[in-house]
Amino acid sequence: MVELTLPKNSKVQPGKRWTLSHSKDRNGPTEGSTNPPPANAKPQVKTFKIYRYDPETGQNPRWDTYEVDVSQHGPMILDALIHIKNTVDPSLTFRRSCREGICGSCAMNIGGRNTLACTKGWDEYGDTITISPLPHMPVVKDLVPDLSLFYAQYESIEPWLHTETAEPDKEWKQSPQDREKLDGLYECILCACCSTSCPSYWWNQEKYLGPAALLQAYRWLADSRDEATGDRLDSLEDPFKLYRCHTIMNCAQVCPKGLNPAKAIAETKKMLARRAV
Ligand code: SF4
Ligand code: SF4
Ligand code: FES
Repeated sequence: MVELTLPKNSKVQPGKRWTLSHSKDRNGPTEGSTNPPPANAKPQVKTFKIYRYDPETGQNPRWDTYEVDVSQHGPMILDALIHIKNTVDPSLTFRRSCREGICGSCAMNIGGRNTLACTKGWDEYGDTITISPLPHMPVVKDLVPDLSLFYAQYESIEPWLHTETAEPDKEWKQSPQDREKLDGLYECILCACCSTSCPSYWWNQEKYLGPAALLQAYRWLADSRDEATGDRLDSLEDPFKLYRCHTIMNCAQVCPKGLNPAKAIAETKKMLARRAV
């Protein structure tokens, strides 16, 4: 019988419970909230169960529970997190920037599904909402994953225009029809929701590029102005980098921008198959 040893800090412990009485401003809206609550909103209490982990303490991760009167802040999960940080527990750590679904930094696992905290409303969930960092990534602190490998993989696909012909006087031109071929690709915000929901990426992330980097790789393969198609395909023709995708489709289901990385991966495989004949 195989004996498996769980890695250090892999067991999540029960944590602290913060009741409504801990909130500093129960009777007023949250300062600094990105979206103010509607005037005269009726009190509505929800419970947020949030993953807490600080590797520097050497302690195991824990689930902290926060009771929040969500009528005191705006409609999004990010508003609730900002409210908790501002009024209950300033040590809660998460990333955010644009609060408009543009920067990708507030990606996390909410209610068991990877998504953006700033575009998901707390009213889309039940009375208890579980929030953890994007899965299968090292954790820097609380809800902040370490995305170093994810960004290195993005860099590896050389996400810029490669050309050999002499530069034009003005811009590189593209017909409207060719420009349309980039729709569904250029909108990616590199939030990592797709890659961190992909089982193939969970188990082979050192070698498999994952759906986000592969969608971006195809974005340059599909660009009529790019002149490095052959080199780009050479670099992707690898049993792990590309072919670990088994079309499970989790990536397309979770993408908060409605993109379909699995389709881009399939198109890349088709390009490789076509050039092989
Ligand atoms: S379709 Fe491919 S990339 Fe998308 S989740 Fe499945 S294995 Fe991962
Ligand atoms: S394809 Fe979608 S889920 Fe994946 S990184 Fe881009 S925006 Fe995020
Ligand atoms: S804060 Fe930028 S996408 Fe959520």
